[in-house]
Amino acid sequence: MAKPKTQFVCQSCGSSFNKWSGKCDGCHEWNTLVEETTSAATPTSNRLRGGRKISFTGLKGETKSPPRVHSGIKEFDRVCGGGVVRGSAILIGGNPGIGKSTLLLQLAANLSETMKVGYVSGEEAIEQIRLRAERLDVTEAKAELASSTNVRDVLATLEGPESPDLLIIDSIQTMYIDTLDSAPGTVAQVRASAAELIHTCKKKGVCLILVGHVTKEGMIAGPKVLEHMVDTVLYFEGEKSHQFRILRAVKNRFGPANEIGVFEMVEKGLAEVTNPSALFLSERDTDVSGACVFAGMEGSRPVLVELQTLVAPSPLGTPRRTVVGWDQARLSMIVAVLETRCGMQLAGNDIFLNVAGGLKISEPAADLAVAASLISSVLGTPLPNDMVVMGEIGLSGEIRSVGQIDVRLKEAAKLGFKKALVPQKLAKLNNPPLEIIPLRECYDLLQYGRSLKQQSTPKETLIA
Ligand code: TYD
Ligand code: MG
Repeated sequence: MAKPKTQFVCQSCGSSFNKWSGKCDGCHEWNTLVEETTSAATPTSNRLRGGRKISFTGLKGETKSPPRVHSGIKEFDRVCGGGVVRGSAILIGGNPGIGKSTLLLQLAANLSETMKVGYVSGEEAIEQIRLRAERLDVTEAKAELASSTNVRDVLATLEGPESPDLLIIDSIQTMYIDTLDSAPGTVAQVRASAAELIHTCKKKGVCLILVGHVTKEGMIAGPKVLEHMVDTVLYFEGEKSHQFRILRAVKNRFGPANEIGVFEMVEKGLAEVTNPSALFLSERDTDVSGACVFAGMEGSRPVLVELQTLVAPSPLGTPRRTVVGWDQARLSMIVAVLETRCGMQLAGNDIFLNVAGGLKISEPAADLAVAASLISSVLGTPLPNDMVVMGEIGLSGEIRSVGQIDVRLKEAAKLGFKKALVPQKLAKLNNPPLEIIPLRECYDLLQYGRSLKQQSTPKETLIA
């Protein structure tokens, strides 16, 4: 038998080394190397002789779309590409307390109408899950609970006659394989447990949903390889202080990625939000400077959201640039463009940018909305209440076009908006549903802001 080999494996990136050191050479994290014992048997080409020739086939052929089961939670089905696929593996990551267990218990209850659902928790006792079920008012559902952390037992259940059709594991970090020396939650355990579970579930046609913890950087804990192993990776995000929760598909072999589902955490669990734009705009204060409505896209769905900026003189040598829900580097770029191409003086000011409602935006199409809210804040002039903004800004100050403009404008019109600031290249729309104000470069935006300032009647300012 091959001699077991000791290796030091980084718990953050999965790199392995022969010697321990304080810092991982792979990802430069400190204190992440853990000793693990592996079998030294590496296959050599000699041992792999005697295989059969594989036959290739053409691209064209008869393929049926995968059978899907609808959960009845529309927001969840949408993110999965139209329902859960039998025999697929789904990984859901998210911060502690964000509502992963709540969502999965609701899902288990709903799906137990059409399939046999097993919910295995390694984190909570049965009583705790029952209490949650009472709170969610799903005690009558046929889903079955178990508390276990041993992968061997779970596999035996899957192989047995009473195997569920949908297996939920909460969470993969608590599961362990007893033949491995390392503790549950280490890279070796997570990787091996997930591989075993996925393999058996695929063989049996069981749908597997794994909960994964996230690290402080917001990545699913354990090596990236876990994300490669599964078919679908979903992140459940949101600010704890807000009741909105967003389920985002970052990888999906059975549907489009980047699709989002929006939920609201209420007394009785997670409620679906069918019109997120209306919700994100519900607390909007009209007639304030520095606020701007961005018509964004999340996957195939338009989402209107309010961006707020505040530009204030800074008492500090290095002014603050604080960003919530957007990219800090992108804000610095917009500020630099406004300073260089439009001659605005922002250097001595603190700048705060907030995406209202706890949504995280990653689209460059939000550039123009950020620039508009910065200009509005500096001029002290509110933008029109009924205006939406979209467009990407280039380094020379030009405003570039964005995709799916008609979907964005339609959603804005539906919510009662009347005007849109758009890139000039997109201005030639047939029958736009709202008034179009085309802009070629950032300077045009500044001029537009100045014209608004001239038209407005100055408000009395209170000086304390
Ligand atoms: P939970 O699903 O336990 O989070 P996770 O599994 O991601 O760690 O969610 C816990 C939070 O959700 C907790 O802070 C309370 C809140 N909550 C509600 O507001 N309403 C509810 O009906 C439930 C069940 C939980
Ligand atoms: Mg949980």
